[in-house]
Amino acid sequence: MKKKIAILPGDGIGPEVTKQALKSLKSIEEAFGHEFTYTEAHVGAAAIDATGDPFPQQTEDVCRAADAILFGAIGHPKYDNDPKAKVRPEQGLLAMRKKLNLFANVRPVKSYDALLSKSPLKESIIQGTDFVVFRELTGGIYFGQPRGRSEDGNQAFDTCNYSKEEITRIAKLAFQAAGNRGKKVTLVDKANVLATSRLWRETVQEMASDYPDIQLDFMFVDNAAMKIIQNPKDFDVVLTENMFGDIITDEASVIAGSLGMLPSASIGTAQSLFEPIHGSYPQAAGKDIANPFGAILSAAMLLEYSFGLVEESKAIQDAVLKAVDDGFVTEDIDRENPVGTEEVGDKVAAYIKEMLAV
Ligand code: IPM
Ligand code: MN
Repeated sequence: MKKKIAILPGDGIGPEVTKQALKSLKSIEEAFGHEFTYTEAHVGAAAIDATGDPFPQQTEDVCRAADAILFGAIGHPKYDNDPKAKVRPEQGLLAMRKKLNLFANVRPVKSYDALLSKSPLKESIIQGTDFVVFRELTGGIYFGQPRGRSEDGNQAFDTCNYSKEEITRIAKLAFQAAGNRGKKVTLVDKANVLATSRLWRETVQEMASDYPDIQLDFMFVDNAAMKIIQNPKDFDVVLTENMFGDIITDEASVIAGSLGMLPSASIGTAQSLFEPIHGSYPQAAGKDIANPFGAILSAAMLLEYSFGLVEESKAIQDAVLKAVDDGFVTEDIDRENPVGTEEVGDKVAAYIKEMLAV
């Protein structure tokens, strides 16, 4: 199979974790005889430095010409401490999501047997956890208008806005995913307070009759925040709006043992984008200590979701599992005996070939 992949390394640890994901993709090409071409482009602070724009037109063009996009991370401390900065790297991420219509962010949450003791949660609670969050990504309070400051500067406001259509298109994906998994969707909202949440409930409830074999539950987000770490095995597919999904997936990463383990897919109307859920972690940049598994597993999701390469995706996931089992993990997971980012990347790429015996 011949495919074009846009590579957007971004800021901080983004470039080094993306590099490790590329090693795995190259192993897959070799093992299965595929041909992927990679085109790099700037995004975030790296793009502001190069062009003044965190999501420049050249980058958008590279993304649109690709069959899928692999993305690292965005963010730089020089902008975080300056509330008056006119352009911020994060605007690049939000512009990219909006312009490429990346409406559904899929974030799988799994426990790893070898990492159970790394979580602050009890092993008996997290062992066997396997759920997936469908986070709406191009609507809600992140994008709603009007937003801004009053003239005297003493008030600020954001707007949370959703249309039925925005809810329906992601809910459809969530119901379909549940059909291939545990047959349960939990809508997480705040319908006791928010009008947008009531529209979510009404819309998703109407759709439920089209999916008679799927059980539909509703949960307020405050309660869900508690239940996710109290009884994570109760969840199968979690469907939620933009900001609630942002918050509960960081929380859920505690189950996997490290935020660095979690991949994600952002499903678009044309091409889709794949990125680890962690940020740019600038303090670790260039030190060969960043956890590359989130990025490597994002490449695995890319193969499955964008190219339909299920076996190839599984080969990467199996190699990651083996690396974790064999103790090839970075310092966020093993403080006493850590392995460097590059070595973890090399190991996974080698395991892919070894396990497929090529
Ligand atoms: C994420 C990040 C982003 C978000 C930030 C960097 C804008 O936290 O992808 O989860 O809030 O969506
Ligand atoms: Mn987040």
